[in-house]
Amino acid sequence: MPCKWWLKAAILIFLFSFSTVRELKVKVKDKDHLPVYNHTLARILVEYASAVYLSDTTELFTWTCTRCNGLTKGFEMIELIIDVTQCLQAFVGFAKDLNATVIAFRGTQGNSIQNWVEDLYWKQLDINYPGMDDAMVHHGFYSAYHNTTLRPGILSAVERAKELYGDIKVMVTGHSMGGAMAAFCALDLSVNAGERDVEVVTFGQPRIGNTAFASYYSQVVPNTIRVTHEHDIVPHLPPYYSYFPQKTYHHFPREVWLYNIGFENLVFTVEKVCDGSGEDPTCSRSVAGTSILDHLVYYGVRLGCEEQGSCRIVMDPSTAAYRTVDVEGNVVFSRDPSTNILRRKSESNNVAELM
Ligand SMILES: *[C@@H]1O[C@H](CO)[C@@H](O)[C@H](O)[C@H]1NC(C)=O
Ligand SMILES: *[C@@H]1O[C@H](CO)[C@@H](O)[C@H](O)[C@H]1NC(C)=O
Ligand SMILES: *[C@@H]1O[C@H](CO)[C@@H](O)[C@H](O)[C@H]1NC(C)=O
Repeated sequence: MPCKWWLKAAILIFLFSFSTVRELKVKVKDKDHLPVYNHTLARILVEYASAVYLSDTTELFTWTCTRCNGLTKGFEMIELIIDVTQCLQAFVGFAKDLNATVIAFRGTQGNSIQNWVEDLYWKQLDINYPGMDDAMVHHGFYSAYHNTTLRPGILSAVERAKELYGDIKVMVTGHSMGGAMAAFCALDLSVNAGERDVEVVTFGQPRIGNTAFASYYSQVVPNTIRVTHEHDIVPHLPPYYSYFPQKTYHHFPREVWLYNIGFENLVFTVEKVCDGSGEDPTCSRSVAGTSILDHLVYYGVRLGCEEQGSCRIVMDPSTAAYRTVDVEGNVVFSRDPSTNILRRKSESNNVAELM
């Protein structure tokens, strides 16, 4: 739709011509204790954020999928939740190496990524975040976590993980819209479930709320790293308008921007740890968000589904005993990780195509 892009360009030119207004600052609890970026941890969590995209529920549930090998080997799945109505997917399990419960959210899968990105330009700050005056967020991102089958499934699985493994920390991750949901989940766990040790690493996450929300978020979930990559367009959206400090979307800290330097055969990746503002002008914001390809690969790991364009789930009879389906067709796979699970791939795959 060419007219949409013209309108956008006109709006941007208008706004940037006034962008000398002083910016609203995000309040950080303790400026000297910004979250520490841990490359090793980010490399591990990006593999969870990648695996959660897969549509073969048996391979995911038994942790035998192609993306379940490398740094996530030995993961004990506790719960795999598929909200068929909204085309969402998340899992909860225990990572022995990290001594932590890991929660991963899938990004958008239903429509083409281009359409989804175009829509991001127009997302309004349209609801108040409960319990925090002035904190506004985008309703769609908020309700994808709060108003679907994901939240109850996750909260109960986190409780079960505690019963089994003790009071371990919780690490929440996700890519793209999955990163937005990871942030809402981490906030929920901290505020409403009394979790004291929650860490978050997101990849290519869009903005989800205004400045007041970003301040609130970073005080409640200070251990958050928001990884961005090169010209990935999604972290630039919905747009940041410094001319409207009260109304604009604003990222929470702390960004880590991955970018390449060098020429031809000699290219290496810099991992720039950004300031505590959430909107460090020398990080991702120093370049134009022009790339969808940069959105789909982080640390060399492919994020996104194998095939775009359909909301597909693959189920087979071998996991039927672990499965419950509600009246709307949403599926939850649940297991007690202290017992063994059949790790055999059935020959008769029962493929369900949806949408
Ligand atoms: C980084 O994370 C890894 C994996 O959790 C951990 O083993 C390591 O101790 C951490 N490093 C620091 C400096 O915290
Ligand atoms: C939650 O979802 C239901 C059904 O989709 C909808 O009718 C309701 O308005 C939603 N509530 C909120 C707060 O988003
Ligand atoms: C795992 O974390 C818990 C809670 O912090 C701690 O009590 C326990 O000793 C840790 N286990 C290992 C093997 O480090």
